[in-house]
Amino acid sequence: MATLEIHQFPCLSDNYGVLIHDGEVTAAIDAPDAKAVAAALTAKGWRLTHILTTHHHGDHTAGNLPLKRETGCTIIGPRGEAAKVPGIDTKIGEGESFKLGSHEVRVLDTPGHTAGHVSYWLPQDKTAFVGDTLFAIGCGRVIEGSAEVMWRSLEKLKALPAETAVYCGHEYTLANAKFALTIEPENAALAERAKAVAELRAAGTPTLPTKIGLELDTNPFLRAHVPAIQKRLGLVGKPEWQIFAEIRERKNRS
Ligand SMILES: [Fe+2]
Repeated sequence: MATLEIHQFPCLSDNYGVLIHDGEVTAAIDAPDAKAVAAALTAKGWRLTHILTTHHHGDHTAGNLPLKRETGCTIIGPRGEAAKVPGIDTKIGEGESFKLGSHEVRVLDTPGHTAGHVSYWLPQDKTAFVGDTLFAIGCGRVIEGSAEVMWRSLEKLKALPAETAVYCGHEYTLANAKFALTIEPENAALAERAKAVAELRAAGTPTLPTKIGLELDTNPFLRAHVPAIQKRLGLVGKPEWQIFAEIRERKNRS
């Protein structure tokens, strides 16, 4: 199996675009902005063959039609919200997989932020593209699902191998770290990471990709099982999705 090349680039106000490349195949993970994706393709000397859409929001799909017109690429996206994904050719969902070049891509349904949101997991490459479901030290807003639905999606991502590199749709890490410290101030790994994140952002450096293992240790949205968090929230022994829901509510208000 050839090595998968991954190129991440900032675009719009706080989105990330990502290109993945193997030989003749180049896929964009979402297409926030056609011009930014085209510029990244030119910079790398790659020709776009696919777009893998995680969810229908405009800051993830605005580039779909212009890029398809320009390149003839195939657009793969979530069956659960296919009608809202511009230019979709191939509808996919949980349990399905496909090949990009020599690389296997597995599809995980991760609804909650939107009703049909999917994540793409490349197990051989130890890499996952999670859109707006999971962020570094955070998670997406629950817009089209319930907190329980979102929690089940996050549980799926929690179960990926710890060494999995995770690419997310946005650079929200600095604000997320500040909020996370209000939920779990005694978490030394989180405090250390918050400091590192502040330094990276001061230097204009991306904090992504992250890793599942790092998120398990420092992301309060994945840590509903932690007694200190349950105690702080006054929810000791409650179902984990309810603890998650309370953390999400507090973040919404922060
Ligand atoms: Fe979104």
